Amino acid sequence: DVVDVRSLSGKGLFTYDPGFMSTAATESKITYIDGAAGVLLHRGYPIEQLAEKSDYLETCYLLLHGELPSAEEKETFVNTIKNHTMVHEQLSHFFNGFRRDAHPMAIMCGVVGALSAFYHDSLDIHDEHHRVVSAHRLIAKMPTLAAMVYKYSIGQPFMFPRNDLSYAENFLHMMFNTPCEEKKISPVLAKAMDRIFLLHADHEQNASTSTVRLAGSTGANPFACIASGIAALWGPAHGGANEAVLNMLEEIGDESNIDKFIAKAKDKEDPFRLMGFGHRVYKNFDPRAKVMKQTCDEVLAELGMEDDPLLKIAMKLEKIATEDEYFVKRGLYPNVDFYSGIILKAIGIPTELFTVIFATGRTPGWIAHWNEMISSDYRIGRPRQLYTGHPKRDYPA
Ligand code: ACO
Repeated sequence: DVVDVRSLSGKGLFTYDPGFMSTAATESKITYIDGAAGVLLHRGYPIEQLAEKSDYLETCYLLLHGELPSAEEKETFVNTIKNHTMVHEQLSHFFNGFRRDAHPMAIMCGVVGALSAFYHDSLDIHDEHHRVVSAHRLIAKMPTLAAMVYKYSIGQPFMFPRNDLSYAENFLHMMFNTPCEEKKISPVLAKAMDRIFLLHADHEQNASTSTVRLAGSTGANPFACIASGIAALWGPAHGGANEAVLNMLEEIGDESNIDKFIAKAKDKEDPFRLMGFGHRVYKNFDPRAKVMKQTCDEVLAELGMEDDPLLKIAMKLEKIATEDEYFVKRGLYPNVDFYSGIILKAIGIPTELFTVIFATGRTPGWIAHWNEMISSDYRIGRPRQLYTGHPKRDYPA
């Protein structure tokens, strides 16, 4: 049942709902989730079908425009994105201001927000054309910035994007190729990368998307709003989970320690949680995790890494936890981040960069929600509170 309290606001009635467990902050036509049934639809299309038949850029188009593109529309969209892949040369100087061991998300918060200092010709949020150009710029430049963050951390020169490659191939090219050696990108790894982006593309009103909307409701420009989403995504309970999964696997260290960590996760006195397990919305299974698991198997086979000790720990943990009564009773199944962490590790992407990959994939979702709000009759987001502090008192004489 949905109670619409709009007619009651201003009459002294408001709801108290910490964590927004039961509050819809908006109407939306973009993504539908049924957590109990494990359903995720983008503009009506099931995520499993998009993962199998579509690709990341086509899904971006779908999220932004509401319909799948025709072949011609898709070609135009892909070419438009390619035209925007480079970043302003002066922006590349920003990197020198950061420590080389800075967390990549710290740099991303800064450089994505700084895009608004370069692209003044697409900052008018009330102009539809400006909004579209900003959307294209963000989708196109996120992988370039993500790869620049990595290259900066290892002291290698930035690689220019290559527009003859697909979105995912180009990302892997900018990450792993050097001016001295340009290796061909494995189609299996490029497909896996594309799927990781696609499976993260949107997830309705999660913490980072809600942050983007709240920032956007003040009239802030899209680059600033996406930077706020990146900041919200950074936390380990949200986008930082796949990084936390790998850190946890390293901490477990050996298959013989798994039982000890499972016991820690069940112990209510211990704050430890099994990273990559559980989801606020999916209480039976995460439909994205199913696709990701299949991709994970393909990548490990392609790289001949089935015997990697860390990955063996992951597989054993998955088996034990999914059979354990504590986890089954609470609906705690491996989520998308459990498998995406393993895939990214196998591809050779450093752990600290995992959340940056998530942010890159989530960009079209953030923009689609921001744009949906800006195009509608919206109000500034202003949550209320239940004040529990001191009543009025006088300053000591
Ligand atoms: N390990 C052990 N126990 C857990 C875990 C876990 N990963 N997750 C939840 N629980 C337990 C809780 O202790 C609680 O037990 P109780 O009922 O006996 O008190 C019960 O399961 C319900 O947990 P809540 O915290 O109420 O669930 P909520 O929906 O608020 O939290 C969350 C969801 C944050 C994802 C949580 O499951 C978690 O911390 N998981 C690990 C982090 C993670 O993987 N996050 C990625 C989310 S997916 C994404 O962002 C794309």
